[in-house]
Amino acid sequence: MACRKCSLHLSRKNPVPGEGPLDAELMLVGEAPGRNEDLQGRPFVGQAGKVLNALLGSIGLSRSNVYITNVVKCRPPNNRDPRPEEIRACLPFLRRQVELIRPRIIVALGRHAGKTLYEEAGLRWRGISREHGRPREAVLWGVRVVLFPTYHPAAALYKPEIRGVLEEDFKRLAGLLGGGSRGRSLLDYF
Ligand code: URA
Repeated sequence: MACRKCSLHLSRKNPVPGEGPLDAELMLVGEAPGRNEDLQGRPFVGQAGKVLNALLGSIGLSRSNVYITNVVKCRPPNNRDPRPEEIRACLPFLRRQVELIRPRIIVALGRHAGKTLYEEAGLRWRGISREHGRPREAVLWGVRVVLFPTYHPAAALYKPEIRGVLEEDFKRLAGLLGGGSRGRSLLDYF
């Protein structure tokens, strides 16, 4: 990935495109790589990644079951928020990932991913505290998906009370997995 579509290419060590099985039912989308991710070229390998691994483990999943990526593929300097023009420049990569993998469920980790994915799907974003833990059926870039926003795992590191909320949201997510007649119906959530 030799992308130079935004200025983040000037400061990155490595792009972090994402990883996971190309037939994953579940895709997780974070915000942007941090320091460790930038060094290794892999998503969620730092402290936030440890929280994410534990959350996945709590519902019987491991990283090898899911596709993990970010809205922005290169690290913003000093972990600042990605800028709108950086998100816009990077979005074609996420779009292609969704078109190719065709996940059934997309978990948006944090407000940047949530807002971006909702807007791309034509849904109104009312903020993470109102949208988290609620599955929404959507058509995203021509793919029928369930969007499931939750808090960013890093939020649990500086706000310990968020950890329990994330755990509850992941339990609800588990209820959506498995599909078919064994899984709970989406209607159970409305
Ligand atoms: N935070 C993110 O949003 N993505 C990563 O890959 C790591 C930390």
